[in-house]
Amino acid sequence: MTRILQFGVTGQVAQAMVAAAASSAPGRVALTALSRQDVDLQDLAAVEAAIAAADCDLVLNCAGFTLVDKAEAEPEAARAANALAPAAMARACAARGLPLVHLSTDCVFDGALDRPYREDDAPHPLSVYGATKLDGETAVLAWEMGVVLRISWVFSPYGRNFLRAMLNLGRTRETLHVVADQYGCPTDAEALAAFVLAAAPRWTAAEAGDPACGLFHFNNGAATSRHDMAAAALARDPQTRARLLPIAKKDFPEPAGRPLNGALDNGKLAAVFGWRSEPWAPAVARATDAILAQGLDL
Ligand SMILES: NC(=O)c1ccc[n+]([C@@H]2O[C@H](COP(=O)([O-])OP(=O)(O)OC[C@H]3O[C@@H](n4cnc5c(N)ncnc54)[C@H](OP(=O)(O)O)[C@@H]3O)[C@@H](O)[C@H]2O)c1
Repeated sequence: MTRILQFGVTGQVAQAMVAAAASSAPGRVALTALSRQDVDLQDLAAVEAAIAAADCDLVLNCAGFTLVDKAEAEPEAARAANALAPAAMARACAARGLPLVHLSTDCVFDGALDRPYREDDAPHPLSVYGATKLDGETAVLAWEMGVVLRISWVFSPYGRNFLRAMLNLGRTRETLHVVADQYGCPTDAEALAAFVLAAAPRWTAAEAGDPACGLFHFNNGAATSRHDMAAAALARDPQTRARLLPIAKKDFPEPAGRPLNGALDNGKLAAVFGWRSEPWAPAVARATDAILAQGLDL
């Protein structure tokens, strides 16, 4: 039995974790998920106290300041949640010898490279969000039982998500312009949750220098564009009416900078854990069907 203390309840990954833990074999995992009401990441003493008091074998952080554009206007709040809170988690985990699994982003890169980024490529964030996430990574990796999983373009049937937004717009707009010249690797939150549960016993048994700890890229394979991801979702909805049209990123300005190439090479994950990701297309189809079955919020 692995006892996991999780920060985050309402987010996409957090909900996927709760669902995966609930459907896992009896006696395999016990997951306690803390909401913002239980522990606010802005309250660093509360973050440390929650870990100090927890009956757990592993800490997982699924919470963060994830509003990339809003972070430009609220850098201090983003910094507290994305950098200072993970640092507090790392301190508290180090004090108890607990592994800490933390999630980061392709937004630590500037996108200038012409191939998928590897873990040892130099980061250079273009946004407040990316810079605060990079500081959070550094703090977690300072603890030798720290694990950082960099993910990108998360999709799932849960919470606020890109697929649901596209499906809603597909039914309400005549035309839908989506960026077609920016690339990233979609990440299935349900696959991520399955991986975390599968790897958890390895992390709890890890000792200093274990290759299972450290920095990894996790995603569902080949890079694509938001346009092609949207097309895959809309193709599943018989009621979609919008004509999907490609636009260039330069014609879709946003407050925060984002990498034009955010593709993350997940070869290290395969080498260390033997994890083979499902390609994103069938996983997007499954998540889209689940959202359509829940009903859209038009
Ligand atoms: N979504 C993506 O495409 C993506 C891409 C790369 C990396 N990531 C990383 O993956 C992780 C999970 O992302 P996600 O998409 O699952 O997140 P999400 O759906 O945006 O949800 C964010 C979660 O963080 C919680 N939170 C925010 N501020 C908080 C605070 N001050 N105190 C406590 N909880 C707080 C939110 O709680 P409330 O509901 O109470 O606000 C929510 O549960 C994050 O670290 C994110 O940076 C995500």
